[in-house]
Formats: sequence, C-alpha cells, structure tokens
Amino acid sequence: MRRVTGYQDFVDEAPLDLVFVADHRKMALVPVAQRESFASVAAGAISQNLYLFAASEGLATVIRAWIDREAIAEALGLSHDHQVLLSQTIGYPKKTE
Ligand SMILES: Cc1cc2nc3c(=O)[nH]c(=O)nc-3n(C[C@H](O)[C@H](O)[C@H](O)COP(=O)(O)O)c2cc1C
Repeated sequence: MRRVTGYQDFVDEAPLDLVFVADHRKMALVPVAQRESFASVAAGAISQNLYLFAASEGLATVIRAWIDREAIAEALGLSHDHQVLLSQTIGYPKKTE
C-alpha cells in the first residue's frame, strides 16, 4: 500500500506513510465553502506535530502534496465524501558516511 501514497522512491521504502483524509460528512456544521480550508489547516497542524515528534526522536519526515489522490482513494476504498489532502512519510535519516 505504501507505494500507492506517492511517486517518489523514498515513499516505497520508508517504514511509515500516512495519508490525511478529510471526511466531509463530519463537517456538516461547517459552511461548504470553508470545509477544505478548515481540513487543510487541521492537516497542517497534525503534520507539524509529527515534525516535532520526529525531530525529538531523531526521525526524518516529509509532508507530501505530490500524490495521486485518485489512486489513494481507490486503494483505501474511500467514498466521494472523503477528500485526500496530503501524505506524510516518516522514516530513519539517511546514514552519512
Ligand atoms: C504543503 C507541502 C507539500 C510538500 N510536498 C512535497 C512532496 O510532495 N514531495 C517532497 O519531496 N517534498 C514536499 N514538500 C517539502 C518537504 O516536506 C520539505 O522539504 C521537507 O519536509 C523539509 O525537510 P528538510 O528541511 O529536512 O529538507 C512539501 C512541503 C509542503 C509544505
């Protein structure tokens, strides 16, 4: 499943690839025009927390927008109410000789 979450080589090899998905059914009280921006802000905050955690643990991480959203939605069996926003890879830093 990992390789579906992005085009870049490190995506296939890293231990963990997360996918941030907005569930529009759960935003019934949010005006339609604001749902995507609210979800994106939330995803950015989650991503930043992951960056902080990764930094504290000596891990490497990359938030990724270069993704095939249709392929991810199909692989995860998502519905039209789900919106794939971003992916984030977490792994070990490259060893420097
Ligand atoms: C919204 C957003 C989308 C990004 N998409 C990608 C991406 O698809 N692929 C990638 O390699 N970097 C992408 N980046 C950049 C990396 O996340 C960023 O270079 C990296 O996390 C910084 O790590 P570094 O300081 O260790 O280089 C994106 C950054 C942001 C803010």
